[in-house]
Amino acid sequence: MIDEVQMEFKANIDRIMGDIASITGGSITTNRPSYTIADAVARNYFFDIFEELDLSVSVDGAGNIRAAMAGREPELAPVLTGSHIDTVKNGGRFDGLVGTVGALECVRVFKENDYIPKRGVEIVIFSEEEATNFGVTLLGSKLLTGKVTPNELREIISDDGESADSVIRNAGFDPGEFNKKILTQGEVYAMIETHIEQGPILDRRGVSIGAVERIAGMETYRVVFRGVCGHAGATAMADRHDPMIGAAEVILEMKKVAENAESGTAVATVGKITARPGAANIIAREVEFNVDIRDAYDSSVTMLAGNLHILVERIAQKYGLEGESIRIAKSQAVALDREIVDMIQSVSQSLGISCMRVNSGAVHDTGMMAGVSRAGMIFVPSIDGASHCPEEDTKASDIENGVNVLIEIIKRLAEE
Ligand code: HGY
Ligand code: MN
Ligand code: MN
Repeated sequence: MIDEVQMEFKANIDRIMGDIASITGGSITTNRPSYTIADAVARNYFFDIFEELDLSVSVDGAGNIRAAMAGREPELAPVLTGSHIDTVKNGGRFDGLVGTVGALECVRVFKENDYIPKRGVEIVIFSEEEATNFGVTLLGSKLLTGKVTPNELREIISDDGESADSVIRNAGFDPGEFNKKILTQGEVYAMIETHIEQGPILDRRGVSIGAVERIAGMETYRVVFRGVCGHAGATAMADRHDPMIGAAEVILEMKKVAENAESGTAVATVGKITARPGAANIIAREVEFNVDIRDAYDSSVTMLAGNLHILVERIAQKYGLEGESIRIAKSQAVALDREIVDMIQSVSQSLGISCMRVNSGAVHDTGMMAGVSRAGMIFVPSIDGASHCPEEDTKASDIENGVNVLIEIIKRLAEE
């Protein structure tokens, strides 16, 4: 049954694209890790507008930002909407910003129309969603919801050898606060995130909105092989214990494990590898690489991770190497709120916008929020599925559709 939804509030797409261009400085490539100067500049852009909108702003011990507009019944738990502003190395313009600027637009449109929702509506900007600093995704929302403890931050180390605890403290935040208080069930009524799909499905099908049903589970491993350092020219092949060969074999074997997984949707990626000391004429002493494993169901992720451990052991033995694989990050697969999935579909239909149900191969902060509140995600297409690269692109008309659906969803949930 198509609901009769009167779209009272419409997103101003020129303003949205203007915000995105201002935050990205008009560049198609972004490098904005959390807890950096670039991050602080983007934060201040939002803080200035939050002040103009007279929102009440709070920043927690991870740097997660919440900017609240009060509702008619302040005792009711609020509806949150937002995403992240940090990016991967040489990332694109839209990953995270579609959701944070979209949330800002939603509150601006409510205010411009003198609409006060029954429940408060809050813009949320999560810190360290990308694994850029430490290889651990969703760190801000994991701290907020207790999936990572402040003590564990001391064991999470950046490439420069600095702990997440000291990086976050040096940026002016106190993660120790999560020892006293984390977000619990009932404090947030619903979390809705608008995000680019980062894959090709919507774009290939010519569909404008994705109603996300599941968010993938993921585990990230750091694998290290240690061998015998030597001269590239004077060491016979038979005499080598070359950790790079071990790494190469694991990488190829993990590709086969993912391709042959029963689910048909498993993925395994090695995007980062370091050889030490790292010179063309030296057989490496040590090779370290990250393995990013994901699938729609945790049981499949566990199976792939088990295969990884077996491969590392077997291949270390085969080449006379030392080998270890340590898990550095984990986030559970999540089924999003069915009623919200249905609502996204029915609102899209009533606005005459094409919509289909999809799963997310990317992980999102909303997956962490799903443990303590109702949660839903609205996807907009990524042209050619490109993301986590400067080629990342989404049509303004699709962003406009996504934010118009978001505004209607937030309005409905805030009136429940
Ligand atoms: O890796 C991810 O899925 C997200 O972009 N951090
Ligand atoms: Mn993202
Ligand atoms: Mn991302």
